[in-house]
Amino acid sequence: MKEKAEISASMMCTDLVDLYETIQIFERNGVEHLHIDVMDGTFVPNLGLGVDYIRGLRKLTSIPLDIHLMIKDPEYKLQWIGIKETDIVSIHYESSFQVQRVLDWLQPYGCQRFLAINPATPIGVLEEVLDYIDGINLLMVNPGFAGQKMIQSTMKKAEKLVNMLKQAQREDIIVEVDGNITPEHGRRLREIGASIFVAGKSSIFKGKVDDYEHNIKILRQAIE
Ligand code: DX5
Ligand code: ZN
Repeated sequence: MKEKAEISASMMCTDLVDLYETIQIFERNGVEHLHIDVMDGTFVPNLGLGVDYIRGLRKLTSIPLDIHLMIKDPEYKLQWIGIKETDIVSIHYESSFQVQRVLDWLQPYGCQRFLAINPATPIGVLEEVLDYIDGINLLMVNPGFAGQKMIQSTMKKAEKLVNMLKQAQREDIIVEVDGNITPEHGRRLREIGASIFVAGKSSIFKGKVDDYEHNIKILRQAIE
């Protein structure tokens, strides 16, 4: 577990009209990552943030990106993205038949390599890839849409995951949680051992842009 909990702001929740102001607020308040949900309409039932968006965002800020690839066969698309060493890149266990190969192909970019798993995927599948990853993105909802309700079994699953990492003596592997991270859920998940908290409509994007700073403080208090 990281000593200090980190926030990854879910950029699919921003109102584009307020994008510049939103980034300024995140910079002022030390938001550690910008979470980019890349969606292809095949792996998840939605389309979203793509290559040009990422390029544009990098002109606005140097906050590191946390790129969540919800796309089929990511191994053939990595080169389109412009991955930087300071980024986290999550690929989904369910998105490729050759998970180690994708993780191998990610290595030259020097980014942190995370494996994401959907709520119905058992944590046992991670055991074979622990040597290839820096972190795990544990989905608490089925990915594709912001503002969903947590799948109840995922809280217990987070506990199982932390125990599994302990047993494997791989507590250095970072646990990120994504989907319906309310301050309350965040508090519980921090107690369990999560380090990176994806913050969307359930927390920092509540209300209007003027409320975001206050929302960040509330989430920070819950996960510190
Ligand atoms: C789910 C996305 C999340 C989502 C999380 O597909 O990966 O980034 O926006 O934020 P909430 O659930 O709080 O809107
Ligand atoms: Zn995500």
